[in-house]
Amino acid sequence: MDAHETGFFTEDNSVKVVTGRNKNAKDERLKQVMEVVTRKLHEAVKEIEPTQDEWMQAILFLTRTGQMCNEWRQEFILLSDVLGVSMLVDAINNRKPSGASESTVLGPFHIEGAPELEMGANICLDAKGEHMVIGGRILDTAGQPIKDAVIDVWQANDEGFYDVQQQGIQPDFNLRGVFRTGPDGHYWFRAVKPKYYPIPDDGPVGQMLDRLGRHPNRPAHLHYIIKAAGFETLITHIFDPNDPYINSDAVFGVKESLLAEFTHTHDPDRAKAYDFDGDFWEVEHDFVLARVGEKRA
Ligand code: BEZ
Ligand code: FE
Repeated sequence: MDAHETGFFTEDNSVKVVTGRNKNAKDERLKQVMEVVTRKLHEAVKEIEPTQDEWMQAILFLTRTGQMCNEWRQEFILLSDVLGVSMLVDAINNRKPSGASESTVLGPFHIEGAPELEMGANICLDAKGEHMVIGGRILDTAGQPIKDAVIDVWQANDEGFYDVQQQGIQPDFNLRGVFRTGPDGHYWFRAVKPKYYPIPDDGPVGQMLDRLGRHPNRPAHLHYIIKAAGFETLITHIFDPNDPYINSDAVFGVKESLLAEFTHTHDPDRAKAYDFDGDFWEVEHDFVLARVGEKRA
């Protein structure tokens, strides 16, 4: 009779009956999570009142989402991204002290093992795109420079593709690099102006976006992971505020503090000094790291 301690299943007491079944859970956190998930899911089903056919469509959508996943493709993360869940989990786990730079999604295109380069190196290995020079400082929340901060940067090219999406077309590690700050906390490197691009949209998530009348694009950005001993690792981007998709990022990753200024520069002498053959873009952006354990805002 144990199974019916909270009564037989009815539409009205569905949550109580299902969650009551977990009373001997071996894992308290799992029990709590499943209680919330069950409650919210039943609430959604009661509000939506799906037909059997609609429910089967939902099951098949999730089945296709799983079937799309492999070593290179994680369709469930993409689903979480376009539903704003990735950004919500990121926000909850990265509440920062005031003044610290804000985080945003990691995305699927980071790879380990990018080369560590001299400050000022050009991460564009195929000379395609509009020249760009990017610099700034890595600071603590008191405005002091951080020495030995390691900056891992990656970006899409001027056609909106990462090297890993165009193997054999772009050189390996194109538009990727790792830089280490000196005592002044300063960093700089050369690159090309990135372009907006669609998140992988040839699977069920892309189909869902299309049916919802949503575009799959992310505004032009550069990715950063910044690490320094004694500081919280910062995973973030900087965005081009003039990008056509800046107000409608498919994965909701844009934050006001992550908008950088991209300045178009005509200065033949400086261009020459940077080894550029014409006009270039300049970006200056400081990053502020929070100390481990530093009080949150
Ligand atoms: C990215 O910026 O690389 C990215 C983030 C989320 C989904 C797809 C791509
Ligand atoms: Fe990206």
